[in-house]
Amino acid sequence: MQKKLYFGRVKSRKISKIKQHNFKYFQKKNNINKLDLKKKLILEIGIGMGENLIHLSKKNTQTNIIGVDPFMNGMVNVSDYSISNNIKNIYLYPFVFQKFLNKFKKLRFNEIYVLFPDPWPKKRHQKRRLVNSDFLKKIFKILKKNGKFIFNTDNISYFENVKTILKNTPKIKIKIIKRVITIKTKYYLKAERKRNKINSLMFLN
Ligand SMILES: C[S@@+](CC[C@H](N)C(=O)[O-])C[C@H]1O[C@@H](n2cnc3c(N)ncnc32)[C@H](O)[C@@H]1O
Repeated sequence: MQKKLYFGRVKSRKISKIKQHNFKYFQKKNNINKLDLKKKLILEIGIGMGENLIHLSKKNTQTNIIGVDPFMNGMVNVSDYSISNNIKNIYLYPFVFQKFLNKFKKLRFNEIYVLFPDPWPKKRHQKRRLVNSDFLKKIFKILKKNGKFIFNTDNISYFENVKTILKNTPKIKIKIIKRVITIKTKYYLKAERKRNKINSLMFLN
């Protein structure tokens, strides 16, 4: 039996026909298969509503930015915003990261972001967590030399777990980040409202 890869919702509220149409149009126009591979490439896994993806696209206008997430409300939010604001360097993949990896085996990234992945705090659910040692092995493979991986969470056990895996990985030096590393996404603000400590780390490949 195939392992279940996604436990979240693909939709939180109804998506209008216009938004669906815009998304299809945007995907045709910004097709990942037609990426200019000479340009720098950033990947964000689990974009949520896409705040950070849009922020990255404006900060790095000469870099292509790919967002991967099965959550369709976020995808259509980004495609609508990109069309209205003439953003040309965003590419969207509306499925799980594992599927993305199988489909685009040759892509290599300058930066990879995973911000506030679902924490799955209950012990019996922790095996559902996206970032684990298997996931990180894949990240090492697809990050370019000197490429950056950025991770944050307000779940302390998740953070410690990822930190331990990385500390036990030869040649990987992690840096604990004390400042806000991106703009404040929906889940960043949620963590702040709950007064949860937000832990962030980075490593270079
Ligand atoms: C808690 S939300 C965080 C969203 C956003 N990064 C933020 O900071 O607001 C986690 C996101 O990861 C996505 N996600 C979960 N599993 C995934 C997977 N296997 N591949 C890609 N995205 C995934 C979910 O759909 C959800 O949008």
